[in-house]
Amino acid sequence: MKKTFYITTPIYYPSGKLHIGNSYTTVLCDTVNRYKGLRGYDTRYLTGMDEHGQKVETVANELGKTPIEHVNDIADDTKNMWKTLDIKYDDFIRTTEKRHKTVVKKVFEQLLEQGDIYLGEYEGYYCMPCESFFTETQLEEGNTCPDCGRETQLVKEESYFLKLSKYEDRLLKFIEENPEFITPEKRKNEVVSFIKQGLFDLSVSRTSFDWGVKVVSNPAHVVYVWIDALSNYISALGYGSSDDSLFEKYWKGNEVVHVVGKDILRFHAIYWPIMLMALDIPISFKLYAHGWYMMKDGKMSKSTGKVVYPEPLIEKYGLDPLRYFLLKELPYSGDGVFTPEDFIARINFDLANDFGNLLNRTINMINKYFDSKVYRPKKSYFDFDKQLIDLVSETVENYTTDMDKLNVSKAIHDIWTLISRTNKYIDETKPWVLAKDDLSKKELNSILYNLVESLRHIGILLSPILINSSKQLFDQLNIPLDLQTWDSLKWGEIVNIEVTDKPAPIFPRLDKKVEEEYIQNLLSIKEEEQAPENLIGIEDFLKVELVVGEILESNPHPDADNLLVSLINTGDKVRQIVSGISKHYTTEELVGKKVIVVKNLKPAKLRGVMSEGMILAGKNKKNIEVLEVTKLKVGDKVS
Ligand code: MSP
Repeated sequence: MKKTFYITTPIYYPSGKLHIGNSYTTVLCDTVNRYKGLRGYDTRYLTGMDEHGQKVETVANELGKTPIEHVNDIADDTKNMWKTLDIKYDDFIRTTEKRHKTVVKKVFEQLLEQGDIYLGEYEGYYCMPCESFFTETQLEEGNTCPDCGRETQLVKEESYFLKLSKYEDRLLKFIEENPEFITPEKRKNEVVSFIKQGLFDLSVSRTSFDWGVKVVSNPAHVVYVWIDALSNYISALGYGSSDDSLFEKYWKGNEVVHVVGKDILRFHAIYWPIMLMALDIPISFKLYAHGWYMMKDGKMSKSTGKVVYPEPLIEKYGLDPLRYFLLKELPYSGDGVFTPEDFIARINFDLANDFGNLLNRTINMINKYFDSKVYRPKKSYFDFDKQLIDLVSETVENYTTDMDKLNVSKAIHDIWTLISRTNKYIDETKPWVLAKDDLSKKELNSILYNLVESLRHIGILLSPILINSSKQLFDQLNIPLDLQTWDSLKWGEIVNIEVTDKPAPIFPRLDKKVEEEYIQNLLSIKEEEQAPENLIGIEDFLKVELVVGEILESNPHPDADNLLVSLINTGDKVRQIVSGISKHYTTEELVGKKVIVVKNLKPAKLRGVMSEGMILAGKNKKNIEVLEVTKLKVGDKVS
């Protein structure tokens, strides 16, 4: 029976177009999955989308769509992008699917019944306009919102918690006993020292938004992000359903690998194994956390235009150059940088010069000297042969070790060492000199045969990485299918070969200056193109209903020093509104003031007191001043 291999990417948030940074994980998993397939494993590759949460609800609203319409559109775009990158996944899980939600509900209820989840109170800073919660450490100076800069309110909300603390020791022991559970080593050390500082129980539900999986036994709560998201790795295998054969086969099979970026390491190295322990499911996975692709001047970011998308690069240069760059330039345990100069240099030097040229030269010589045909020599004629043949088997060994560790960057380095050695072999043996002498035909044939054998090995090792050009290599050399397999990685398997008589360079050399400029233009979003992100249309503004309201009464908040609770008549009704103005107004001062009120703000509890709207106020470093009107009447519209 074949050994099984199950590999997963994180499931992506539907927050817009994926850039080359996000795509890296998916390309990496695709490559490793193809490699395992080549090795004869029974493989399964899962990717998907993480489609719940408050942000999705808000963005969908802004776009005038329902949340499901919005995530359907993004899921379609994402699948199209994976097609463009030739990603061969077996399953695409979406957290909005029934098969997934059923598992989340079940998992949550089980943990609740066991007492691993309990009801408590979540305390966080709430930004009303952004409808987002933040921890104290996420806030900007003066406890303002990190997204919009406005003042936040400290709120308490009922929430369920997962007992992480209970599993702390067990998890540390597990990590110690399974030294390869988290790689690279550096990431493992980060996790261990984080756990040793002590784990706080994790808030796993919210009552402030709806777009999520409802808690079965208390539907006022939705399951908050991570329990929902992490369960995808088993819900996609049918865990807990009437047909859990995939779960039995792959989760309980030979190898399971989760690949994630360094920013979501903790969730996968701590929360997920603890969830599995609590559910009594084996922690069968290994975790690899990679670094990030950066731009020369910092993080990739859509809002500043410092971002690279895969599609235009693929359209212009083909798929393999991008796959090559992504897989090569991110070191195993650090970050990588994308620059137009490096991208073009990798194509010109590595792909066109070193690799493409080797293939092209070899075929041209076989055509020129032997009418396209070479055969297996009876003996070796040069000392250089042994060096080349030894390096081929050494390369296969190193490559295997590196690919098994998911160190694809190093595996590429191994292959290029062989490519350079093979190029050097041509310089050493000088076929063009032997060609002048009719008595040296056998020697010349042996050189060209050795070049073809080396290239055949290079093609097999490259096949999970450079999908199209490895095929072109096999086609141009006319390598039969049975000599393109992992098992055929043995020197001398070719008996006779007739190469194409019409070779074409697989990577044409590019004009450095022209192409660098082309990519630079893709990167630099001009100011006028950026501006629309900051502007809103009149239709956006008109969504905010503003009216004149009169403050009838104002009292201190029972639980927060900086808040006042006012009763305000807005014409349609008297509303209770909580505002953070107690340091600037006495309660008496406010009574009788006619102020401007946001009427259609979603009600929210601020420190346990319900607030049904917001009073408009201006502020600077010293003062907050509510906006007042004199001539207008209660209920008059403001626009
Ligand atoms: N939805 C969560 C994951 C849940 S998994 C159970 C999430 N989604 S994400 O869309 O924000 O990020 C997906 C992946 O993209 C993460 O692994 C993240 O590290 C990766 N990357 C985002 N920017 C990146 C780079 N610039 N470079 C490399 N990877 C990057 O987190």
